[in-house]
Amino acid sequence: MRNVLLDLNIIFDYFSEPRREKYPHSITVYDYFLEDNGCRAYIAASCIDDLKFIKYNQLLEEKPNLTRRIRYKFVYKFLKYQLDNFQIAKTPAYIDIDLEDIEDSQIIASAIAVDAQVVTRDKGMLDKYQGIAITPQQLIKQIEQQQKAPPSIDFANLKKQYFNLQPQIERQMDEVLNTTSFIMGNKVRELEEELQKFTGAKHAITCSNGTDALLLAMMAMDIQPGDEIITTPFTFIATAETIALMKAKPVFVDIEEDTFNIDATKIEAAITNKTKAIMPVSLYGQPADMAAIQEIADKHNLKVIVDGAQSFGSTFKGEKDSVLGDISTTSFFPAKPLGCYGDGGAIFTNNDDYAEKMKMMRVHGQNKRYHHKYIGIGGRLDTVQAAILLAKLPHYANEIKMRQKVAMLYTKILSRSSRPPKIKEQRTSVWAQYTVRTRNREEVQAALKKAKIPTAVHYPMPLHLQECFKYLKYSLGDFPISERACAEVISLPINPFLSDKEVKHVSLIVNQYL
Ligand SMILES: Cc1ncc(COP(=O)(O)O)c(C=O)c1O
Repeated sequence: MRNVLLDLNIIFDYFSEPRREKYPHSITVYDYFLEDNGCRAYIAASCIDDLKFIKYNQLLEEKPNLTRRIRYKFVYKFLKYQLDNFQIAKTPAYIDIDLEDIEDSQIIASAIAVDAQVVTRDKGMLDKYQGIAITPQQLIKQIEQQQKAPPSIDFANLKKQYFNLQPQIERQMDEVLNTTSFIMGNKVRELEEELQKFTGAKHAITCSNGTDALLLAMMAMDIQPGDEIITTPFTFIATAETIALMKAKPVFVDIEEDTFNIDATKIEAAITNKTKAIMPVSLYGQPADMAAIQEIADKHNLKVIVDGAQSFGSTFKGEKDSVLGDISTTSFFPAKPLGCYGDGGAIFTNNDDYAEKMKMMRVHGQNKRYHHKYIGIGGRLDTVQAAILLAKLPHYANEIKMRQKVAMLYTKILSRSSRPPKIKEQRTSVWAQYTVRTRNREEVQAALKKAKIPTAVHYPMPLHLQECFKYLKYSLGDFPISERACAEVISLPINPFLSDKEVKHVSLIVNQYL
């Protein structure tokens, strides 16, 4: 169902005894939006003063003996109730003002700005703005239809997150647009400070995306053509692609059956005199066995770059994954646990030299304007993305907890029949994906699709069998655990806002097929 903006008449039907009886549909509509039922309701900013004015006069009529002070107390309580329950929709600058009815055109413009339909009993508005303005009865029909249909489940539910954080996001966006400081504005520095505080890393350097973050990390380490970097074949292409872009050689090591992360016990066998670094990936949001990996790296004098594109905010032995290894990276791709509204990424390190180099590398290797110490890249995070992340970051710790609660419920229900992902001791996951294994994936996917439940496969083909890596001369059977994972994994919807009911709905379908 589309978002809804409540017209004043609906609100006053609810708060006036005689009108409550006369307009029961308004009561049903108002009550519906007091519950968290996945729908979003707004009040137009232009109506707020009218709310106050009308309420004051209503009280004057109904309770003439109240003092002015008490009357205002009632009015403020009433206003606060509205503002606590509904979001304000601003009047956008692109309003099409109708001089005969400015108020209606303001309400309609606000509705358009938040992609909402207006619920109203105002005949004039209903006639003039057909398609946007609907009656309470029409809305109740929509609600009934929606309740009859199976729940519609969103994979990442960025819309709900946007609704929840709309005031903060709007403020941040207005500030960026007003300063017009779109590249490396103050907000980028502000975000880097906040990321430092959140992770405990000495340096947090934002950049254009999670792929460039890996590239910048290797550039800072001065990885040379022919150097070997050990990583996993069960990951997104960017992990090994960036190694190849550096003209270094990705050397794959198989994964653990239960965590899908690189199997640390197999790393030493892959080390040669050309090996320069190990690049574990914290797949689906959980760090790899970083204690074992670091021990191997120390023993063989290797660097560790953590591809934490999926795991920002996860922990290993109580520390954030951003402080693991020599350099740790992440991605703020919109669907990642902490996502911006475009491309974005960050690099974290406690090493001052790496930090200084990466800061230069992300701006074409420049140490002073138009003076280039290194060959670098155009790898900056833009200010709009920094602003979005500044609005979201204060809420992220709570969202991680919400994701973890959803994952726990999935695991509880699914563990009866499937093999849910395992989180090892002293690690936490931010559940970028909730991925289970099944031998009949196509059947499970088809059943979920029929129930309008979105799924994804992360990832259907291991990197050692990708055409682009043919030159590495790996073959089928080289990494059997990764190959089996590619054939069996299926990711179910996960986001902080999935209700228990939705998780049960998905799980029960999955359980039938596992
Ligand atoms: C494991 C991994 N590494 C790297 C990346 C690249 O991040 P970005 O898309 O921000 O470039 C991703 C993105 O999906 C990823 O999942």
